[in-house]
Amino acid sequence: MHISENNLIPDDFEVIDFNRRLKSWYLENHRPLPWRETKDPYKIWLSEVILQQTRVAQGLPYYERFTEQYPTVFDLAAADERDVLRLWQGLGYYSRARNMHFTARQVVDEYKGNFPQSAEKLLKLKGLGQYTAAAIAAFAFDEAVPAIDGNVYRVMSRIFGIQSDMLSNEGKKEFAALARQLVSKEDPATYNQAMIEFGALQCVPASPNCTVCIFGDECYANAHQMQGQLPVKIKKLTVKQRFLNYFIIKQDDKLAMHERRGRDIWTGLYDFFLIESNAPASAPDDLAITDPVFQNLLAKSRLTEVLKLYSHILTHQRLQVRFWWLEIPETERIDLPPGMAFYSHEEVEVLPKPILIDTILREEGYL
Ligand code: ADE
Repeated sequence: MHISENNLIPDDFEVIDFNRRLKSWYLENHRPLPWRETKDPYKIWLSEVILQQTRVAQGLPYYERFTEQYPTVFDLAAADERDVLRLWQGLGYYSRARNMHFTARQVVDEYKGNFPQSAEKLLKLKGLGQYTAAAIAAFAFDEAVPAIDGNVYRVMSRIFGIQSDMLSNEGKKEFAALARQLVSKEDPATYNQAMIEFGALQCVPASPNCTVCIFGDECYANAHQMQGQLPVKIKKLTVKQRFLNYFIIKQDDKLAMHERRGRDIWTGLYDFFLIESNAPASAPDDLAITDPVFQNLLAKSRLTEVLKLYSHILTHQRLQVRFWWLEIPETERIDLPPGMAFYSHEEVEVLPKPILIDTILREEGYL
């Protein structure tokens, strides 16, 4: 077998060889699990829903309780939702149990209790995604479709050297194309169980024991010592939008600043009096200011808005920042908000500041 010396798409002969090796490994090594002994689509579906939520060892007793209490889809459909939720208790993510109950009624009401017999039709049921639809179609109806879960992504990416991001759309397409090519047309049920089991027992996420693997160094990851890097999963960063409203308190050409503390951005740098809001604010009135010291400052000062809106992108945050000048007449005696002090022009120049603060002071002609 010469699969994947350089991320090669296997030819037909290699696919047959891959299938033969995988199946013989499975027949010798697989765990006898009850959902592997049945062709009942209802029970297979139950097992897959449970196994999406938990590992085999923890899921097994749930599977047994569910199939005992609700042996057919009619029993589950007729059940009281509270009883279903109670039986699900401990698995978490209760909307999954509620969806499952809903789908059981859908199968009874719309399909007379018979699950649709292809992945494409199964996909129309509520809560069934690509993976579950393919798993039921292959296990119960021997349709030659690949069920691709996390285990299967890992196995394919390592053996065939697929380095595309498995979470991206292009990556998913590439994996799906390879999976369609690999899936056994003669025995898709065993093929799919074998891929899942191979990922669960042999090609495990951390420190797989490749010295005993049937694919040896014909596996791309083993040959290139890339087990730790494959599969590639690039998590999209969740970017938080924040709205910062800065008041540059100025008196006698001095600016009120303070050092930022705590675990937020820019710790140790100096900035101005800040009010964060949940939405863009176009005037201080939008900010519901309650601090009496600051209210007093506002009352005694001349407020001018900096018209330019600044946006600033950090790794996990997108900041939209607005500035106001608060000019206090030289003769006014005022208190600054706690922790703040006035700094002279020369001092402001040398204080460590976020780039954004430096930029605005230059653009406003202060520095
Ligand atoms: N995880 C998801 N589906 C599974 C299955 N059919 N057998 C074992 N583990 C699984």
